Amino acid sequence: MSPFAHVELLPRDPVLGITEAFVADTTPTKVNLGVGVYLGEDGRVPLLDCVRQAEEELLRRKAPHGYSPIDGIAAYNSAVGSLIFGSERPNLDERMLTVQALGGTGALRLGADLLRITNPSARVFISDPSWENHRALFSAAGFTVEAYPYYKADGTVDFAGLMQTLGTLPAGEIVVLHACCHNPTGVDLDPGQWGEIQELMAKRGLIPFLDAAYIGFADGLDADRRAIDLFARSGMPFLVSFSFSKSLSLYGERVGALAVVTGSAAERAPVLSQVKRIARTTYSSPATHGGAIVATILGEPGLTALWHDELALMRDRIKTMREGLATRLNTQLPGRDFNFIVYQRGMFSYSGLSKTAVEALRQQFSIYALDSGRICVAALNKANLDYVAEAIAKVLRESDSQSLVA
Ligand SMILES: Cc1ncc(COP(=O)(O)O)c(C=O)c1O
Repeated sequence: MSPFAHVELLPRDPVLGITEAFVADTTPTKVNLGVGVYLGEDGRVPLLDCVRQAEEELLRRKAPHGYSPIDGIAAYNSAVGSLIFGSERPNLDERMLTVQALGGTGALRLGADLLRITNPSARVFISDPSWENHRALFSAAGFTVEAYPYYKADGTVDFAGLMQTLGTLPAGEIVVLHACCHNPTGVDLDPGQWGEIQELMAKRGLIPFLDAAYIGFADGLDADRRAIDLFARSGMPFLVSFSFSKSLSLYGERVGALAVVTGSAAERAPVLSQVKRIARTTYSSPATHGGAIVATILGEPGLTALWHDELALMRDRIKTMREGLATRLNTQLPGRDFNFIVYQRGMFSYSGLSKTAVEALRQQFSIYALDSGRICVAALNKANLDYVAEAIAKVLRESDSQSLVA
């Protein structure tokens, strides 16, 4: 009897499923707006110059590909700790730890497994909607996952609903917050709202887990750390998952970090020992090559400055594409206001396209988006912008009576 005879066939990953369909499509004008990656003007994942130079430096040094320590390369952890918390981080060092992880996903899972040890009966609250892997990841770690209200049909944050839900939670519950560039909506909390959330969470003894996968893509590295800073200054314990996948275009190198701010200096060593146990028994040690690239860039001021410039170029290109799409749609569909696309932040836009409209885009134009209407604005470029804007306008115009805008 095979142990696999009764294994349930699970549905395909929704995002990866779209990419498979896109690859199989032979239409020359096809556009994949379903992806979660930044593409350059040429439609490709960029190799940043700072990364290329760091790799050349590693080659010159003949850096071997040995194992990294269980918690990662020390220089990486220290530089990334400064990046996450800023160079001024009063009294944080003695109770804070930063551990190299396998991308943002690996950091989230390390944190989730740690919290299963510290708060085994807690529930995890994610935003409604959220990155589709949040629910799956925290469920796989053994948690019951629930959602707090986040997004309203009018395109704004349901702040009253969010506060109302958090205000009922008992101490010890875990709340996952997107530090910036909310995925999938592109709609972020404002500084005042962050302040109220932090105060409420401190008062109720809730555990914040800040997912920082897009730091640098909204307003810049420093500005995008605002929410993390706020929690750091409050003194309350919290966790941060950090990713370099997007900000350094190092997707496949799997570089990220889990940062934990514990409650006191005495808690630091036990927590670090638990995180190392989890890492050791899951993947043993993180990626040497990716970690070395990041440590080289952050350890060499010239390369760091180059990275900041390249990040600014990516950020500005996304903003130009947002403006380009909104302007074209405003012109083609007078009477409707698409300026929300400009105000949303990061790589994604909750476009408001219904599932039927998304299907029409796919069938008539080979333009691929998520069923939720999420489009990746970072996959637009000067060559496909007109085509995409005209396609969206046509689909919406033709079907106005059928109300294809959800
Ligand atoms: C909100 C959010 N968190 C985490 C991640 C995971 O990042 P990584 O690819 O580094 O694992 C992503 C990636 O899309 C994301 O959107």
